[in-house]
Amino acid sequence: MQSQAGTDMNILILGSGGREHALAWAVKQNPKTDRLIVAPGNAGIAMLAECADIDILSGQTVVTFCEENAIDFVIIGPEAPLAAGVADATRAAGLLTFGPSAAAAQLEASKAFTKALCDACGAPTAAYARFTEAGPARDHIRRMGAPIVVKADGLAAGKGVIVAMTEAEALAAVDDMFGGEFGAAGAEVVIEEFMTGEEASFFILTDGTTALPIGTAQDHKRVGDGDTGPNTGGMGAYSPAPVLSDAIAERAMAEIVRPTIAEMARRGTPYQGVLYAGLMIRDGQGRLVEYNARFGDPECQVLMMRLGAQALDLLLACAEGRLHEAKVNWADDHALTVVMAAKGYPGAYAKGSQIKGLDAIPETSSQMVFHAGTKAAASAVLANGGRVLNVTARGESLADARARAYEMVDAIDWPEGFCRRDIGWRAL
Ligand code: AMP
Ligand code: GLY
Repeated sequence: MQSQAGTDMNILILGSGGREHALAWAVKQNPKTDRLIVAPGNAGIAMLAECADIDILSGQTVVTFCEENAIDFVIIGPEAPLAAGVADATRAAGLLTFGPSAAAAQLEASKAFTKALCDACGAPTAAYARFTEAGPARDHIRRMGAPIVVKADGLAAGKGVIVAMTEAEALAAVDDMFGGEFGAAGAEVVIEEFMTGEEASFFILTDGTTALPIGTAQDHKRVGDGDTGPNTGGMGAYSPAPVLSDAIAERAMAEIVRPTIAEMARRGTPYQGVLYAGLMIRDGQGRLVEYNARFGDPECQVLMMRLGAQALDLLLACAEGRLHEAKVNWADDHALTVVMAAKGYPGAYAKGSQIKGLDAIPETSSQMVFHAGTKAAASAVLANGGRVLNVTARGESLADARARAYEMVDAIDWPEGFCRRDIGWRAL
């Protein structure tokens, strides 16, 4: 697989989390990479790439930065710049770009858009209704009863979904959303059938025509051991996800992913980038819970740990419309990441505590501590967010990967942090 972009590439990655640290780590290992810049980056990323503090939500700023730095390839990590049209701006300026247009990123940015698209292409998903006013939404909930799922249409930093086990909870969620709790994201509300089953994430690269699966993963959304406590952005992940068997994956490709890609192309808004399909699996079939227009965080960390340097070749093939000639070289391996978070997360937490012991942990092709929310100060690494570190390891079995990841966790001296001790339990 030969990239038309050649070698000695200057590459820009947008984002500042553990996902972008993992992307940078994989890209950096590929000999095609010459100069690597991450904007804005973080303290861990700064150890392997240049960091640039620019406004990544401004397409014009990103384009100007690329021109000034002779960037050959732009990789967009988070959803916010995608929804803001940064990929449209960079493509319009002739820059090779990984990430969907704003029109295509609606698959993540609007739940109502995605539900309508599923209708149009026959993809299995939860039954639903859309509302722009509280009255009819409340009537609908009373008619359907609980459990039921209430979703703000737009991007709400992962907080716009209420899985209501009682009618009262669902009614309260409707009132909150139309009351402005999520701003413009809640101007429209989608109410869905509650689906049961086991959730898993399926990652597919697409250049608008070809779809190439690049791995499966499962994350742990609750903050506490045994899946207890409030929801978070994800406390750990592993890949592959055994529940997403080859047969179920192939069925999801045929029933959900390929029809979605074809429908997006038919509408004149082809999807180019990674499609992250959240699936609810039951009785041998996956049904779509949601799409994201980016890699999952922390799922990206385990995918990159498994793919290594070839990730850059795959992202390039995707951006250049050559995915039909791309192939993933799979090792029969497993990866697992443990999120270390600041005490208090996902509620209020303090920033600025010092993390010690990182220097003593070897970083190899099969173990890395990715930084999610850190800041460098003098020679120290300080916590600078809720989710702070992603302690990630690869092994021949999931049990190996897990043992190695927790060995690293135990070598980190950070009394102000915590983690779940049971990442991977469902698969072990
Ligand atoms: P989303 O942001 O759409 O992924 O929703 C967040 C989480 O809510 C999902 O990962 C599921 O655990 C849960 N969820 C969303 N929609 C449904 C549904 N229709 N039935 C059951 N659980 C759901
Ligand atoms: N870990 C879930 C997400 O990235 O949306």
